[in-house]
Amino acid sequence: MVRSVVTGAAGFVGSHLAERLLSLGHQVIGIDNLSTGKMENINSFIDLPEFSFHRSDIRDRSSMSEILEKAAPIDYFFHLAAVVSVPFSVENPGITEETNYDATVWLLSKCEELNVSAFIHAGSAAEYGDEPRLPIKEEYATDETKHLSPYGKTKYLASKSVAKSKKPSGISLRFFNIYGPRQDPSSQYSGVISRFIEQALRGEPLTVFGDGEQTRDFIYIDDVINVYLVAAGINSDTGQITSPYQGTYNVGRSKSITINRLAEVIRSIVNPNLSIVHLDPRPGDIRHSLADISKAKSTFGWEPAWGIEEGLKETIKWYQEQK
Ligand code: NAD
Ligand code: UD1
Repeated sequence: MVRSVVTGAAGFVGSHLAERLLSLGHQVIGIDNLSTGKMENINSFIDLPEFSFHRSDIRDRSSMSEILEKAAPIDYFFHLAAVVSVPFSVENPGITEETNYDATVWLLSKCEELNVSAFIHAGSAAEYGDEPRLPIKEEYATDETKHLSPYGKTKYLASKSVAKSKKPSGISLRFFNIYGPRQDPSSQYSGVISRFIEQALRGEPLTVFGDGEQTRDFIYIDDVINVYLVAAGINSDTGQITSPYQGTYNVGRSKSITINRLAEVIRSIVNPNLSIVHLDPRPGDIRHSLADISKAKSTFGWEPAWGIEEGLKETIKWYQEQK
């Protein structure tokens, strides 16, 4: 049976990935310290015999060694646990470095020792800083890039170490803005789509920061899970495995939308009478973000399948069901 570790398994993306691997008949060992993740994200599969969950911090080397040595032999190490909030990273650069960089590099070496075949890291568009050349290509992130936060810097350094690794085969997927069911809307720093949907369902005005003409490249969670599988060399229908890829790849739709337009689309789906208000711009915000995904397309033969309106409808349906 194919065996995978998923760190950050109780988070938004990690819980979808674990669920999908289980549905393909794989065995999954989930690790999470529940700092931003929630048990309710994994409730639907926590009792499956193929799933085991460890509440542990990835910075705790003795506990991680114990879990991983017991879990071996491991085929895939999907590494998603991280400090994910940019403002938190600015306030806590030390914790961010320990979590996003130091722990990642240590886990990579532990995976080498345990003969894991692939190490798949969750990189980020933040690795490019405020890059003016659009669409953004993988090679634009360099040691000279001016990162806007410790989050961007540590993700860049971790991606660089992972992508160099041959044993295990290291893959860093640089995600642009991901959205979908289970994204937590509860903080002011939560993803804009989860916040707009939550506001709309409460009948509150949608809060656009600044003039709203900034753009983002949003990608639906199902497309993200599919690219995880193909990059790792897992057949997304049968679960059968072939050789994993190696290197750094952008993951987005390569289509951008303004935040104003996004607010209008969400309003038109939920309640056309809602108002949209403009607040002060958010400090440190980048203006435009758009991925060049030709490398992932040509290497993996992968294409994002979900359009923004379909993805938003599916996401809104999920939030409505939670009410
Ligand atoms: P999330 O906060 O829902 O998931 C992160 C998970 O990691 C949480 O469950 C959290 O409890 C866990 N975690 C954090 N620190 C930990 C530690 N020290 N030890 C163990 N577990 C820890 O966020 P997400 O959106 O699912 O993000 C998953 C990954 O994808 C992250 O690495 C993030 O940086 C990356 N990413 C996300 C986006 C996005 O738009 N959501 C975009 C680019 C990259
Ligand atoms: C997001 C991710 C970050 C990831 C990056 C990759 C989240 C929370 N952050 O950052 O981890 O590395 O993508 O591209 O998912 N906005 C509003 N109103 C709101 C909330 C936000 O107008 O109520 C605006 C913001 O000012 C920003 C845009 O929406 O211009 C997107 O914000 P956000 O969803 O927080 O994502 P990013 O900052 O792009």
